Amino acid sequence: MNIFYLTLFPEMYEGILSSSILKRANDKGIVSYKTINFRDYANNKHNQVDDYPYGGGAGMVLKPEPVYEAFESLHLENARVLLMCPSGRPFDQQFAEELSTEENIVFINGHYEGYDERIRNLATDEVSIGDYVLTGGEIASMAMTDAIVRLIPGVIQQESYENDSFSTGMLEHPHYTRPREYRGMKVPDVLLSGDHKKIEEWREEESLKRTKERRPDLIKNKK
Ligand SMILES: C[S@@+](CC[C@H](N)C(=O)[O-])C[C@H]1O[C@@H](n2cnc3c(N)ncnc32)[C@H](O)[C@@H]1O
Repeated sequence: MNIFYLTLFPEMYEGILSSSILKRANDKGIVSYKTINFRDYANNKHNQVDDYPYGGGAGMVLKPEPVYEAFESLHLENARVLLMCPSGRPFDQQFAEELSTEENIVFINGHYEGYDERIRNLATDEVSIGDYVLTGGEIASMAMTDAIVRLIPGVIQQESYENDSFSTGMLEHPHYTRPREYRGMKVPDVLLSGDHKKIEEWREEESLKRTKERRPDLIKNKK
């Protein structure tokens, strides 16, 4: 998979993309990352990428030309082009699974008040990571990258994500490790029993219990 980020702040990606599992996926040759600063495509002498909104109002609006030209510099024939946007499709685990099979993903990251409306025509999808407003799309696209890349075969072990919260449609069961008892808090006996059938049943029950308590909407929407 090739992932491209159209951004005014490429330096924001450095730490995330060169750490942990995202770095390992790149080292293994499974994913490549490239940031493109669309300020490099500003066609005016002050390298200005935003301008005042027609009709007046607060904030600056991203101009279409630098974003279009930065996108076209990629010469991509097939790509999922994701416009980061609070009014987009809510990002969730199913969406991450869908995107994890793509060959090319382009994130377009807004900043300031928002985009010139014509930039939306470049996108195959408009995506939101939640009902709140960030300063820019960079953090949203990093969170999405992390959720997508870990699902690509070969990046982490399949067993590690197939029972994750949301992948099963439920929240995950509790986990314990050593010591058996810590400050009076004990590991449930069933986990020490060695009875795999019972352990599996316990995990399913706990997963259901936790989902009912915390996210009853998931059970209601489960197909
Ligand atoms: C300050 S926001 C603009 C918000 C815009 N005025 C609105 O009300 O929808 C600047 C940029 O941050 C990104 N952004 C902010 N919140 C986001 C969210 N929840 N999901 C995805 N991207 C977001 C988008 O790229 C957006 O264009």
